[in-house]
Amino acid sequence: MADLVADIKARLSIEDVVANYIPLKRAGRSFKACCPFHNEKTPSFVVSPEKQIAYCFGCHQGGDMFKFVEQVENTDFMGAMRILADRAGLKLEDYKIETDKPRISKSEKETLIQMHEAAAEYFVDNLWNTEDGKKVMQYLKNRGMTDVIIRHFKVGFAPDNDSGLIDHLVKKGFQKSAMIKSGLVTSKDVSSDKIFDKFRMRLMFPIADATGNVIAFGGRALKDAQEPKYLNSPETEIYHKGSVLYGLYYAKKAIKDADEVVVVEGYMDTLMSFQSGIENVVASSGTALTQEHARMIKRITSNAVFAFDNDNAGQEASKRAFIIAQEQEMSIKFLKVPHGKDPADSAKENPDELKAAIKNAKPFLEVFFDNLAGRFDLNDQAQLMEFLRECMSVLSAVKNNIIQDLAVRSLSARINVKEEKIYDEIERYKSLALKQPQSKMKEPPSDNGANVKKMSAEDTILAILFLYPELFSTIDSRIDENDFENELKSLYKTFVTQDGSITDAILKNLDSEQERNRVHFLSLYAESRYENIKAEAVRKDFDQLVQHVVSKKMVVKKEELKKMIKEADRKGDMGGREALLNDLQKLCSK
Ligand code: UTP
Ligand code: MN
Repeated sequence: MADLVADIKARLSIEDVVANYIPLKRAGRSFKACCPFHNEKTPSFVVSPEKQIAYCFGCHQGGDMFKFVEQVENTDFMGAMRILADRAGLKLEDYKIETDKPRISKSEKETLIQMHEAAAEYFVDNLWNTEDGKKVMQYLKNRGMTDVIIRHFKVGFAPDNDSGLIDHLVKKGFQKSAMIKSGLVTSKDVSSDKIFDKFRMRLMFPIADATGNVIAFGGRALKDAQEPKYLNSPETEIYHKGSVLYGLYYAKKAIKDADEVVVVEGYMDTLMSFQSGIENVVASSGTALTQEHARMIKRITSNAVFAFDNDNAGQEASKRAFIIAQEQEMSIKFLKVPHGKDPADSAKENPDELKAAIKNAKPFLEVFFDNLAGRFDLNDQAQLMEFLRECMSVLSAVKNNIIQDLAVRSLSARINVKEEKIYDEIERYKSLALKQPQSKMKEPPSDNGANVKKMSAEDTILAILFLYPELFSTIDSRIDENDFENELKSLYKTFVTQDGSITDAILKNLDSEQERNRVHFLSLYAESRYENIKAEAVRKDFDQLVQHVVSKKMVVKKEELKKMIKEADRKGDMGGREALLNDLQKLCSK
């Protein structure tokens, strides 16, 4: 397999691979583009022919060509390999790599399902019967979840262990080759066939098929800064994201009885709604609602209530889901989730109120217009136009004439514009939309910028230092390694002890893959942003960044001092108070 990877890399360049998906613009030694993984207007996606990596400094996705294809095609390493081998004109068979047989045999499918069942048992056992599991249980309690619901949905815990699950599965007699197909394991290094548990230190939600078999998992991060927040099983022979609705197996009967389904966004939302007595609840979890999802729902009921997150991403997702549901001529209601930001928080706060809000949900477009009107100032011409554009994008999708008529009437009253003008506008919007070129790429993931993080000041400081080590002397001990977090701390320390010498020396001293990647990405960032800029401007930026870190430190320190002063006050320790006040004054006069 290592040979194939090397041969692919020898035949293809990262810039050609990426250019197949998005247009690239040259920018000095690298190329730039608007990121394919999140929505943005100014390009932060950089492709480096020298380093053969492509990386987004907005949402921090990307890597080498394999990683890039994995992410952009939403596949796993083998999937990316197949695509790239094909593009390079190489045959997997020539490398003795097992290709998929045309159809998986029944018994293979059964094996995969049995393996998932065994995994679910292992995770459940870890949650209930281990010390770490007890802590996770406490977390669930704090989130408001009862034992009953935890058991009902077979929630589990994947411990911080490289091979706990693998060992368990080996004991149960499963083969490693089957484990690899299941997506429950991963290999850290492409050139070795050593495998590891994919899910580590995560809260595990088993995903069931229509008959209740566990076919995949969603794993929630349990530590701060653990990325991604939810790690989901990849597509496998038994799991196709677009045709599985989380919770449907448990909700089916209640949906039939109520002749209505409640659609939420997340795992937690599903469980907490169910616990509140809203048992007809499902989630599309992780992907936008698909046509297939809508068809599955339509087979049971024509009525849906959307209870999406109150944030912008949730509103945007509900709009897309509404448009999808139009194809199935479903009747959609919508609500503003009371309290908190999502149904999970709301159910914890006040389950009855959530239940009532769902019961009183209004026609989708009514609530959608309400929410929109709250975001725009309709007396302002420019904002009104923006508001109308948003309205048109949904109104033009409505298939049912009566529903459209009701919505148009309501909008007309709202903005005091004649109904026929609104109809004209809908037609105009439709013809405009037809002229838009159809992108051949799939839609970016539905995070809607939620994952976009700016490069931190600390990141940027290091990045600049890699490119201009001479700036190190200007820091003048205003900051030190303790101002950096996690792996940045050791990078900075290495940098300092190397006396600010170049990246190669630093690279040699790093022992983790993660740190090496970080250096690659940071130096790429520095090149793309600072290489062709006047020394003076770089220096100014650098100084501002250092100053920013210093002030941040100062703020924290002041807060600490204030707290201590209060504490001294409370204890009546006047001497201590005096000294602390002095310190604070000194700090403020700096
Ligand atoms: P949320 O971020 O709203 O999470 O994502 P949540 O379900 O409310 O979880 P808590 O309450 O913060 O613990 C909603 C859903 O989107 C998918 C998951 O299915 C999640 O339940 N998602 C989110 C992912 O697949 N990956 C992510 O990184 C984040
Ligand atoms: Mn949520």
